[in-house]
Amino acid sequence: MANTHEVAFKLNGKDVQVSVVPRELLIHTLRDRLAHTGPHVGCETSHCGACTVDLDGMSVKSCTVLTVQCDGAELFTVEGLQQAGELHAIQQAFHEEHALQCGYCTPGMLIRAWRLLQETPEPTEQDIRYGLAGNLCRCTGYQNIVKAVQSAARKVADHKVAAQAPSA
Ligand code: FES
Ligand code: FES
Repeated sequence: MANTHEVAFKLNGKDVQVSVVPRELLIHTLRDRLAHTGPHVGCETSHCGACTVDLDGMSVKSCTVLTVQCDGAELFTVEGLQQAGELHAIQQAFHEEHALQCGYCTPGMLIRAWRLLQETPEPTEQDIRYGLAGNLCRCTGYQNIVKAVQSAARKVADHKVAAQAPSA
């Protein structure tokens, strides 16, 4: 195809290579080319956080990143959170604390919460609310989501799981 670029990056620990036009957004590459449909498309204006992924150690909204910017990058999506087929502690906590209803916002919440716990292993409620401020939920309100992240932090402290990178 004319005017395409080869872009290579690590996705949940695996090397991938894609051929994209310069204007292609990362969210579309992940969903449409790489079958990683965990990151969702909500607003496409960097507002809702449904498309959040982890890019070189930072939470980013993949609807506002060009795929060509990701050459050589290390990317994690919600698909990488499970560990050896088991739910990650953050996923378990969201389940146990009833922190989701429709689930549309949940992949972005989970991968953002994972990065938040890397940065702040013992977050206060205020840390969590601030840390998730870029992720909107239209179903649950935020109380159970906050409780889930607090619970996940305790699980992580007990089991040392969030120190591990997500896996493929
Ligand atoms: S779809 Fe990316 S922030 Fe809403
Ligand atoms: S659980 Fe439905 S948008 Fe958050």
